Amino acid sequence: MKFFVDTAETKDIAELAATGLLDGVTTNPSLIAKSGRDFIEVTKEICGLVDGPVSAEVVSLDHESMMREAEVLRKIADNVCIKVPLTFDGLKTCKALTGDGTMVNVTLCFSANQALLAAKAGATFVSPFIGRHDDNGFDGLDLIRDMRLIYDNYDFQTEILAASIRHGVHVLECARIGADVMTAPPAVIKGLVKHVLTDKGLEGFLADWAKTGQKI
Ligand code: G3P
Repeated sequence: MKFFVDTAETKDIAELAATGLLDGVTTNPSLIAKSGRDFIEVTKEICGLVDGPVSAEVVSLDHESMMREAEVLRKIADNVCIKVPLTFDGLKTCKALTGDGTMVNVTLCFSANQALLAAKAGATFVSPFIGRHDDNGFDGLDLIRDMRLIYDNYDFQTEILAASIRHGVHVLECARIGADVMTAPPAVIKGLVKHVLTDKGLEGFLADWAKTGQKI
């Protein structure tokens, strides 16, 4: 499963990229606003920090304006992935852009039928929002299961990009189901390495090693 980080904070992205475990970045208008940075400037900086796809989202609602915004965004770098909303105008834009060889992430997916439409529109990635699905009384992981089944039934190449990931159990279940990618905030990704028994074991090994008086 590929790991994307869901943030526009360049310090966090650089730190995770240095581990060699990061495959891409996702941003959205809320994350750009939170960063307080200029959209184009910060996106360019992020594209230089990772080799993989960097999702940058359009903010218009009609196809023509989305295409105009996508034109500006795709000039930023070769690894920009244009993010469009799951609306008919977004799908029309997705079809046009992917037909032209541009990566597209169709976002705000909350149903398997929406995911089917995104795949038919040739999306590179589709982003089901697991956490927000859970928040509203549905099971976000059921949506990932349905999508896996449907995409495999028809051999769609669209990658399932599990988004709105809130904790390690989401990550684990997405990996079990076979989501292609997951995107999570930096804290969730960093939290995956933690285990109390790892810390305790390490403490014990180091204490015993100190007793030997040796050095490597
Ligand atoms: O990538 C989509 C994601 O940012 C949404 O996450 O936590 O705002 O629901 P959240």
